[in-house]
Amino acid sequence: MRHVQGMEKISSFVTLSLSTHFFYKVLSSMSYWNEQCKIGNLAFPRFIGGPLDGITDSPFRKIVRNFSTKELLYTEMRHVACVANDTGKTKALYFSQMERPLNYQVSASKIDFIQQACERIVESGVDMVDLNIGCPARLVVNSGAGSALMADLPRLKVVLDAFRKALPIPFTVKMRAGYKEHNAVEVAQLIQDCGVDALAIHPRLQTQFFAGSPDYTIAAQVKRAVTIPVIISGGVVNWATAKAVYEQTGVDAYLIGRGIWSKPWKLHEMQEHSQGRLYRVEESVILASALAHVDAMVEYYGQRGLYAFRKHLPFYVKGKMCASQLRQRLVVSHDVEEVKAGLRQFFGA
Ligand SMILES: Cc1cc2nc3c(=O)[nH]c(=O)nc-3n(C[C@H](O)[C@H](O)[C@H](O)COP(=O)(O)O)c2cc1C
Repeated sequence: MRHVQGMEKISSFVTLSLSTHFFYKVLSSMSYWNEQCKIGNLAFPRFIGGPLDGITDSPFRKIVRNFSTKELLYTEMRHVACVANDTGKTKALYFSQMERPLNYQVSASKIDFIQQACERIVESGVDMVDLNIGCPARLVVNSGAGSALMADLPRLKVVLDAFRKALPIPFTVKMRAGYKEHNAVEVAQLIQDCGVDALAIHPRLQTQFFAGSPDYTIAAQVKRAVTIPVIISGGVVNWATAKAVYEQTGVDAYLIGRGIWSKPWKLHEMQEHSQGRLYRVEESVILASALAHVDAMVEYYGQRGLYAFRKHLPFYVKGKMCASQLRQRLVVSHDVEEVKAGLRQFFGA
């Protein structure tokens, strides 16, 4: 009898401590989603607009600002030589202040041009600078920049030191799991030791480009190995995936890449869902965004902007009934008004 009573006591103690543990876990994860991510002396919502070359450009970032005003947005990557020598033609430093807070992304393979580029970037009024050491493109890695820097740590250190010395504003680095081989933890520690304020990890090797599943166990190892904020890049497309990745890695923020492609409301949607609020983008809002996006592209690039919008159009009208013929006509159109009228037709407006 005494034995049974003892067992009951133990079992109610275990139940009580398990439920207390569960209660605290739920509470702490709730406050996590209410808090901001601190980078240097700045703080932002945890969902960040990632860099997609030719997609998340200045016109797109302006449309994002119709939904999200406080979220950090990355620019696409520019080589430091291009920034240092910019005469205005490449529009390397041409953006609007409304796009801020902005993280200006650069690439470099050696210290040349870093000081001059940083001076110009800081003068332009951005909030921070990001060094890309994850780009897998052959042209970039053959020049020794992008993910090739992850395979040469002494050279990486020299480059990181040069940026840190040149930058009075927060400095971040976007890395991969490694170049040909995994060395993310070692690289992350070097990044931290060089005084970088935060790092983003896209946990794939250079050889994987953008295919295959991101390896979140590597992101979790990196998060455990450093004390600076760790941002995950890869496979996060909505609040449910962000939450699942948080549980696997404990990271501090989420860089949304392909998930934001032609979905300028995405960061706002994720922020709302993370706070337990309902948000579903309305058809009229998608149409208004697509129309505003065409206008912003043409305003920024001229006629070339209409052609560049062809990369966005299929995403805006995805899933629409009987879309294929109209879509095919619109993606070869040279006429802005025809494209806008076609978009309205898609949405029955
Ligand atoms: C078309 C395209 C362009 C990209 N351009 C850049 C870039 O300029 N700079 C960068 O750091 N990463 C770039 N990336 C990588 C993404 O930022 C991101 O790390 C990767 O796509 C994984 O995240 P996701 O699954 O959210 O897209 C690009 C990826 C794609 C698909």
